[in-house]
Order: sequence, then structure tokens, then C-alpha cells
Amino acid sequence: MVFFENAPAKITLSVDVLGKRVDGYHDVEMVMTTVDLADRVALTSLEVDYIDVSADNQYVPNDERNLAYKAALALKNKYHITRGVRIDIEKNIPVSAGLGGGSSDAAAVLRGLNKLWDLDIPLSELADLGASIGSDVPFCVYGSTALASGRGEIIEELSPPPVTWAILAKPNIGVSTRVIFNQLTLENLPHPNTKRILEAINQQDFYKLCDHVGNVLETVTTSLYPNVQRIKEKMVQAGSKGVLMSGSGPTVVGLVEHQHKAIRIYNGLRGFCDEVYVVRIIGYSTTC
Ligand code: C5P
Repeated sequence: MVFFENAPAKITLSVDVLGKRVDGYHDVEMVMTTVDLADRVALTSLEVDYIDVSADNQYVPNDERNLAYKAALALKNKYHITRGVRIDIEKNIPVSAGLGGGSSDAAAVLRGLNKLWDLDIPLSELADLGASIGSDVPFCVYGSTALASGRGEIIEELSPPPVTWAILAKPNIGVSTRVIFNQLTLENLPHPNTKRILEAINQQDFYKLCDHVGNVLETVTTSLYPNVQRIKEKMVQAGSKGVLMSGSGPTVVGLVEHQHKAIRIYNGLRGFCDEVYVVRIIGYSTTC
């Protein structure tokens, strides 16, 4: 039997870093949501005790380095499962882009195997297990809109944001989250106002949300890759109402209210940036 699981990309609406922790991670406050750009994960149960992973993208490892593999292994170990699984990933989310593609694939494996193997594990328990795989995996297990705190693994679900469309522009570079966090200077960070962002979501106020989006990790990513700053400027000039980098980058997100405007900005950016997408913000779970 083959099970298909949707693995949506995440975008951040705000990323704040509150301090460095003794375990080497940083305490963060992030507002995250999902968009309708998604990987598709096919799971086939195997009678032999073996995990086989493959993705149709040369930049994704087909071995135990893949977060989807780690997710299957963690689940098997924790719940003493002796069956195996074949995982086929159709990659649509750009890799190393700040869009949570690898984390979302891992989360899809946790949700999908939970069904395939009739385990009946609550989402909160899958999210806890996901935290051992990566800081963004718990958010992706829920796949909705959330305030993430701690190192990213403490999830408070929110209602979907008011915005409906986003333009994603990814320059032709891959960014390592570890490298970006390692180079972050905590003094004088331009902190986003998370409280206002939460209010804007509550009030469904698109313009208020756009006024407050922000990402402190841009201080590092734009200094390493000045092209990210240039794309941000283009996105503003083109008429996006809210502009920020997603996660540790390098993808730049522009928020607009209407599809026709998103398409116009997309057409303007295409000559300037290799990978550009128009997506709809979903913000509630569409994970099956
Ligand atoms: O949790 P994950 O493996 O995705 O994190 C990758 C790296 O990013 C960590 O090894 C750490 O260096 C950095 N990180 C951090 N603080 C966080 C999340 C990630 O310093 N909250």
C-alpha cells in the first residue's frame, strides 16, 4: 500500500532571536505559516526492516542524512517498529532556501507513517519526536500558523493570517542555518514587534501585519549575500506591502492582497532572480 502525504513549504512572518542558550542554540520567537507550494511524499510499507529514501532532486541526499530518513528511524526506534519503509520525495520546494522543505518532508513522514502503520500517535507527540530531528519539524508536523518559541520547538497554534498571496524569490545560493546563527551578533538587533504581528493576525489586519513583519537573521544573510538585500529592495519597489526574508534565507517573501498584483510582481522579478514563485498563503493544516 502507498500513502501520499503533502509537505507544504513554510514561510516566516517574523523571526526574532532573544538570546543564546547554553546548549548552543538560540531562543527564538517566530511567527510561521504555510503556503500552497508543497513537496509530495509517497510512503510504501516494506516487510523488511529497512528505510529506503529517494528524492527527485540532485541536492537532496538519498541516505541517512535526509531528514525524512531520520524521521522514519526516530519513529521506528521510539515505537519499536520492525517494519521498513520506502520514501519517495517529489521535491517542489527549493532546497536550502529558508522554506523548511527538509523539515516538512520529515514531518510528512511522521504523519504518514503514523497512518500507514496504524500507530494512532497524537500530533503533539509526533511534534515532540520531530524536535529531535530539527527545530522546525514540530511546526511542520502541525502545518498551520503558529508562534514558535524556545529553539523553535514550542508551538502555539494561531489562526491563519489575513494575507492571501506571496511572491517568493530565491537567489541562486543555498544557505546553512547553522552558519547564519553562528555569525549573529545579538547586540542592536532590529527586533520585529511580535506582539503587533499577533494582534494583526487576530484582527485580520493585512496592512498592520505588513508594517510589522521582520527577520533579525537578515542582518547576517544580507551581509554574506548582498543580493538578498537587492531582491528585498526590488520587491518593495515592485509594490509588495510587506517584505522580509524567510527563516535563515535566502528566499525573500513579498506579501500582497491580490493575485493579479502578485503575478505582476512575479513577472517583474523573474528577469532578476532565477527562482520566483507566486503562492497562496494557506495557514491552516492541509497536510493529508
Ligand atoms: O535544529 P536544526 O538542526 O535545524 O538547527 C540547525 C542549526 O541552526 C543548529 O545546529 C544551530 O547551530 C542553529 N540554530 C540555533 N538556534 C535555533 C535553531 C537553530 O542556533 N533556535
